[in-house]
Amino acid sequence: MYIKELSKSVGEILTLKGWVANKRESKGLVFIILRDGSGQCQCIVDANNVDNQVFADAQKLTLESSLELTGKVVKDERQMGGYEIHVTTLKIVHIAEEYPIAKKEHGVDFLMDKRHLWLRSQRQWAIMRVRNSIIFAIHQFFQKEGFVQMDAPIFTGNACEGTSNLFESDYYGDPAYLSQSGQLYGEAMAMAMGKIYTFGPTFRAEKSKTRRHLTEFWMIEPEMAFYDIFQNMDLIESFLQFVVKQVIENCPDELAIVGRDIDKLKNSTGVFQRLTYDEAVAIIIGKEAVNGKYTLAVLAEDLANKQKEKDTLLADIDEREAKIAIPGMKKGEVNFNKNKIALLKSDLKEIEEDLRNIPEWLNSAKNFKYGEDFGGSDETVLTRMFDAPIMVYDWPHAVKAFYLKRNPDNKAFARGVDVLAPEGYGEIVGGGERETDEQMLREKITEHQLPMDAFEWYLDLRKYGSVPHSGFGLGLERLVAYICKLPHVRETIPFPRMYGRLLP
Ligand code: 4AD
Ligand code: MG
Repeated sequence: MYIKELSKSVGEILTLKGWVANKRESKGLVFIILRDGSGQCQCIVDANNVDNQVFADAQKLTLESSLELTGKVVKDERQMGGYEIHVTTLKIVHIAEEYPIAKKEHGVDFLMDKRHLWLRSQRQWAIMRVRNSIIFAIHQFFQKEGFVQMDAPIFTGNACEGTSNLFESDYYGDPAYLSQSGQLYGEAMAMAMGKIYTFGPTFRAEKSKTRRHLTEFWMIEPEMAFYDIFQNMDLIESFLQFVVKQVIENCPDELAIVGRDIDKLKNSTGVFQRLTYDEAVAIIIGKEAVNGKYTLAVLAEDLANKQKEKDTLLADIDEREAKIAIPGMKKGEVNFNKNKIALLKSDLKEIEEDLRNIPEWLNSAKNFKYGEDFGGSDETVLTRMFDAPIMVYDWPHAVKAFYLKRNPDNKAFARGVDVLAPEGYGEIVGGGERETDEQMLREKITEHQLPMDAFEWYLDLRKYGSVPHSGFGLGLERLVAYICKLPHVRETIPFPRMYGRLLP
């Protein structure tokens, strides 16, 4: 039996197997918070109701010890999950050594080093379940739409997304690269199957530490024959709406644990505005307004608000510190205030980071050069103006990948589309309509200094029944981060691979 299913067994005696997530004792009682992977619940061991040996064993349990316990399921609204177990007997499976992750605040580096254990904590548990729900919804969506899931190779002989961040390996004496994207293979597969999607790991040797970059991440790449860029955008929109709706429906508890504001998230189940690159730039540099508001003014207002928030926090911290410095306060109250101060200080850190960032964003918005790709700050500034994701399309061809089709009405632009998530998240999807003109592609491959022979097979696709086609790539970890509103992608994947981290 699992904790998730307790509602079916109220009043019954049953056995649960799991780990001690927390434990506290008071006169003749041991309160165990048991976690079994499916959830957590409080289990009460009462010295009056169990054998002496069982009670002694319960007292012996340390944090993260494993055990089997039997008891009666009692409904209690006040308890986590709404149920508790009145234990009749328990069996120790393993007494854990002193657990390195205590309840106090740990630094992120420490937690990353202990990732194999950190995964057991409630917040990480919730994030992983949201990730699972997203993956399931992705398959549901494409399967119901008639797509065939196909796998692209991981060892590749060519670069898809530029040569600057390739991981090279030795393939029997020849260089092979870990795939940056399954797209080129996806195009071949779409010509065989009509509509396909790949779902696999992709690799980029990113040499900087940012909150959105991993060196190994999972990408979902649909590719559709006979789709133009506008049909592609329709598909992206309905796909993301579906996934977000499914997660809201299936993971209410998990979203609550990570503290996600569901009303805000619901914005992603509505219409996504579509802007051309030119329209987006006009907004970034403050030439065009969105709902009567200009970026530069909005950012200046954000800055002033953050400064006010900082002042309020500082005053609150000072007041509490002064109070606990006066002798005579009860121990419980001192601890309460100390915990509160720790929380306020961590809020303060976030606000101080914003206070450092906003002026930089303002600067980069003011100095944006027309024709350039968007950087992280440009995306933040732009998406700050919208509640829902936006789609930016028709990019200057020089800043985008070699395979994108030119806009037939204006050859300066390539038919790429990026989806930028709101609340400061930025790019979660990159895609577009593919170039079908073999000559154009050859020119681009040469311009990007890519080895032509590695692309001859790809160019074949333009020789035998070439058709208009489109596709996109969704970065799974970026979507998890946005849906859970996490500050960094490192918590979105069980064992993140990032610049400077290969363990655990
Ligand atoms: O925009 P990108 O580079 O596009 C492609 O790879 C296309 N071939 C996709 C296609 O059209 N089939 O990457 C697509 C998405 C990004 O929008 C982002 O969400 C994610 O992949 N991504 C990363 N996620 C985490 N860490 C990184 N280093 C990422 N690089 C890209
Ligand atoms: Mg991109």
